[in-house]
Amino acid sequence: MAKQAIPSFDLTEQYGLIEADVMAAVERVLKSGHYILGPEVNAFESELAGYLGVRHAIGVANGSDALLLALMALGIQPGDEVLIPTFTFFATAGAVARLGAVPVFCDIDLNTFNLDPAELEKRLTAKTRAIIPVHLYGQVADMDAIMNFARQHGLSVIEDAAQAIGASYRGKTVCNFGDIGCLSFYPTKNLGACGDAGMVVTNDDPLAEKLRILRTHGSKKKYHHDVLGFNSRLDELQAAILRVKLNHLDDWMAKRQAIAAYYDQALSDSCFGGKVIAPQVAAGNRHVYHQYTIRAEQRDALIAALAANGIGSTVYYPLCLHLQPVFAHLGRQPGDCPQAEKATETALSLPMYPELDQASQRRVIETIRAFV
Ligand SMILES: Cc1ncc(COP(=O)(O)O)c(C=O)c1O
Repeated sequence: MAKQAIPSFDLTEQYGLIEADVMAAVERVLKSGHYILGPEVNAFESELAGYLGVRHAIGVANGSDALLLALMALGIQPGDEVLIPTFTFFATAGAVARLGAVPVFCDIDLNTFNLDPAELEKRLTAKTRAIIPVHLYGQVADMDAIMNFARQHGLSVIEDAAQAIGASYRGKTVCNFGDIGCLSFYPTKNLGACGDAGMVVTNDDPLAEKLRILRTHGSKKKYHHDVLGFNSRLDELQAAILRVKLNHLDDWMAKRQAIAAYYDQALSDSCFGGKVIAPQVAAGNRHVYHQYTIRAEQRDALIAALAANGIGSTVYYPLCLHLQPVFAHLGRQPGDCPQAEKATETALSLPMYPELDQASQRRVIETIRAFV
C-alpha cells in the first residue's frame, strides 16, 4: 500500500477541529450586514493588542501593507535608506522600494537565520533612517543589539513579526521592541486567516493615530483627506475567523514547540556528522516555529529523497533579496552577504504544523537518517 503523503503544512485538519466555531462566526458576520471595519475588527484589534501587550493594534489588508503603512507613518521618504536582512520574504524589501526609499541589504547570522547586528555599522550611511529586523521562522532577532544601535543613531525600528506572533526575547513579547510591529495573517501563518489579513501594532499614540488615518485613504473625517494614504482595511469575516483562532494560538504554539523538540532530539544526534544541522535557538528566545528549518550541505538531494517518500519540504528562500533581478540597479553582487547566500543553498524547512503526528515525524526523521 502506498504511504500517505506528509505535506509541508496542512490547513484542513485544523479547520476540521474548529469548523463549528468558524461557521458560527461567519454566519454572525454575514447576517450582520456589516462587512468592513466593524465590530469584529474592533474586537479583534483589542483582543490582539491584549495578547501582545501593546497599546494599539490596527487591522489592515495584509502583512505587506502593514510594512508599507509603518514606513509611511514613520515618514520614510524617497532616497531614505532602510537596513533590512537580505534573507527574508520579498515584502520586507518591497515595502521600502515602493516608497522610493532604498533597501540596504544586510547579511545574517547563519545560526539563527536572523539579521546580524554587526552588519548595521557596516551598512550605515548619512541617509539611513530605519531598520526592519525580521523575526524569521518564528525566532526573534537580536533585539538588544539592534535597539541599542538604533538609539545610538536615531533610527526608527519596524519589527517584521509576520512569522513570529507569540515569540519572545528575554521575557519580552515580540512587537514590543521597535516603534511599530507588523503582522501577517496569511493562511499558513501561525495565526492564519481564510484569506489575506494583517495588523500594525504600536505603543506610540500619535503613530497609532497616523496608521488609522493612512489605512483609509488618509482620511480621519469621512471624505476629507489630510494626507495621502490608501485603502488597506481588514474585513469583518477575516477578523471574526481570526478571533476564533486566537483562542487556540497558545495551544497550537505549544504543539509546534513539541514537534520541534522531537525533531531536535533526533537531528542533533551525532550520527549526522554535521551533514544536517538542526535550527539553533539563541539564548533567551522563545521560538514559535513558524518553520522548522534545518541546514543540509546536500540540500537538493535531500529534498528529492524526502519527495520520493511522499514528504513535502520547502526552501524559504532560494535567492537573497540583494541578488533579485528587481534590485539589480542597486549594484549588489554575489558574495556581498556570504552567510545569507549560504542559507539560500542549504536551508530546508521540514513539515511543521500543530496537527503533525509523531508517526509522520518519525518517517521524516528516518528518511533523513537513511539519506545521510
Ligand atoms: C517575513 C514576512 N514579511 C512580510 C510578509 C507579508 O505578509 P502578507 O503575505 O500578509 O502580505 C510575510 C508573509 O507572507 C512574511 O513572511
